[in-house]
Amino acid sequence: MQSILRNVGDCVIRNCEEKDLQFVININMSTLPEHYSDYFFNSLLAELPEAFIVAEIKTQIVGYIMCKIEFGFSNFRKLGFVKKGHVVSIAVLEAHQGKGIGTALMLEGINGVLIRKSDEIYLEVRVSNETAVQMYKKLGFIIKSRLKTYYRDGEDAFLMAKDLS
Ligand SMILES: CC(C)(COP(=O)(O)OP(=O)(O)OC[C@H]1O[C@@H](n2cnc3c(N)ncnc32)[C@H](O)[C@@H]1OP(=O)(O)O)[C@@H](O)C(=O)NCCC(=O)NCCS
Repeated sequence: MQSILRNVGDCVIRNCEEKDLQFVININMSTLPEHYSDYFFNSLLAELPEAFIVAEIKTQIVGYIMCKIEFGFSNFRKLGFVKKGHVVSIAVLEAHQGKGIGTALMLEGINGVLIRKSDEIYLEVRVSNETAVQMYKKLGFIIKSRLKTYYRDGEDAFLMAKDLS
């Protein structure tokens, strides 16, 4: 049975199910230059369903967030080895942007990695993506470093992270 995590107006935020994946893949194709194999989407859903979330308006999937859990050096503590949530991808269809759906997806993604007892959460974002950077800052993410030519087209990324401990 589907369980609703929260509502944003007429938009339902809920955990992703296998039947949603093709719609998630379509949104990824239409909103972002970074694409992945179908297998990758499937494996993230299998590995971390708690932090693979979709936004749905009247049975149409309009947004998603998907995350991974990793172990590695802390973005906040010197020499600390921690469990980290990694936001692999987040997007909302253009027609539905600016309504608070991205914020709600991120809040539930954070809850999902917290269920798995992550100490931190981090992501990479294009330095030119001011909308996304603004949203992450509002949600408490801090720019920790600039990754030179991170993207295939040569653009740099900001590595942004939030302490959850
Ligand atoms: C980034 C993205 C997920 C945000 O989703 P959204 O549903 O539009 O976000 P929200 O409506 O919750 O807005 C959150 C904040 O983003 C910022 N924002 C949203 N739309 C904006 C716009 N048109 N211009 C500037 N800032 C904007 C604002 O700070 C906003 O907070 P506010 O409403 O309190 O002012 C969405 O723009 C998107 O899918 N973009 C294309 C894919 C992408 O870039 N993904 C991120 C890759 S790292």
